[in-house]
Amino acid sequence: MIKQIAVLPGDGIGPEVTEEAVRLLEEVGKQFGHTFQFQFADIGGCALDKTGTPLPEETLQICRESDAILLGAVGGPKWDHGPGEKRPEAGLLKLRKALQLYANLRPVIVFPALVNASTLKPEVLEGVNLMIIRELTGGLYFGQPRGRKETDEGLAVVDTLYYTEAEIERVLRKAFEIARLRKKHLVSVDKANVLDSSRLWRETADRIGKEYPDVKLEHMLVDNAAMQLIRRPGQFDTVVTENMFGDILSDEAAMLSGSLGMLPSASLSDSGPGLYEPVHGSAPDIAGQNLANPLATFLSVAMMLKYSFNLEQEAQAIEQAIHKVLEDGYRTRDLAQEGERYLTTTEMGEKVRAY
Ligand code: NAI
Ligand code: MG
Repeated sequence: MIKQIAVLPGDGIGPEVTEEAVRLLEEVGKQFGHTFQFQFADIGGCALDKTGTPLPEETLQICRESDAILLGAVGGPKWDHGPGEKRPEAGLLKLRKALQLYANLRPVIVFPALVNASTLKPEVLEGVNLMIIRELTGGLYFGQPRGRKETDEGLAVVDTLYYTEAEIERVLRKAFEIARLRKKHLVSVDKANVLDSSRLWRETADRIGKEYPDVKLEHMLVDNAAMQLIRRPGQFDTVVTENMFGDILSDEAAMLSGSLGMLPSASLSDSGPGLYEPVHGSAPDIAGQNLANPLATFLSVAMMLKYSFNLEQEAQAIEQAIHKVLEDGYRTRDLAQEGERYLTTTEMGEKVRAY
């Protein structure tokens, strides 16, 4: 198989973790007989410095022509005080919108070797392996009208939670497809006892669900879901929800794994390349020191192989290698206990490639 991958290293530790991820992809290609071709492009602060925009047209073009996109992270103190459109993060938002990446996949896997890194009890965390699918391009974060106005009752403010049925349907369909690749259990999270948008969400889930009789569909109210994620996270397999609920629940669920350095993500559209990136940011405090944990980016690469290229076996090989490396006690600094020896970014990359 020959695939074109756009690599957008970005800022801070972004270049450090993506460099190791590219090496890992090359190793997987060698072992399984695939050719991955890489095209590097700028995004975020480094793009701002070179071109005055956080997402140059050339970068967008390279992304559009690729089969998948690997991104490091963007941002840093250097660019924190510019106006909105001159912020590195604006590049990321523009890229998601331009490529219609409406489904954000955030898996949470609790690695047995890291169970002690979490604040929850090991018996609660045992076997946790869940996937949250968040709608990413609609809802409260984009709805119009919005803003402040003076009224007879004083200052007032409005945000609008707006979804078309088609937007709801496409993300639910994606969720059923993904649940099918997993344990075939889909929890749809809403607030149907209060919100009209949630009632349409629930009706649509029931309707689409008839096309997926092999997937067990369950509805859960968002406040209950927030409790259940902490009380008994092992009950979840695949979870789907709208933009804001997903923003909050995915960050909550992320804490189950105990480390920001272990969390991958994917953002998918209907056609065109998917975007794969670690959940963490550019970590300016450790940038350039070879201290970053590259495992979140490696897990993002595994998602790319699985969801964009249908290379299930290759994806599993990466996940297995990470499991083994951790079981054998290897850690980067963020995972190490006080006083424990740890590996650099490049050493961890080398270890995973060797397993
Ligand atoms: P951050 O995720 O960059 O860092 C938070 C803490 O976690 C820091 O102490 C950092 O050293 C540590 N950390 C993060 N990733 C790590 C890794 N792979 N290995 C070891 N330690 C790691 O979040 P923060 O500090 O809030 O933001 C820093 C910059 O990143 C900001 O400019 C922010 O806007 C940007 N950011 C970018 C994101 C993206 O590109 N998707 C997402 C979140 C933040
Ligand atoms: Mg968030």
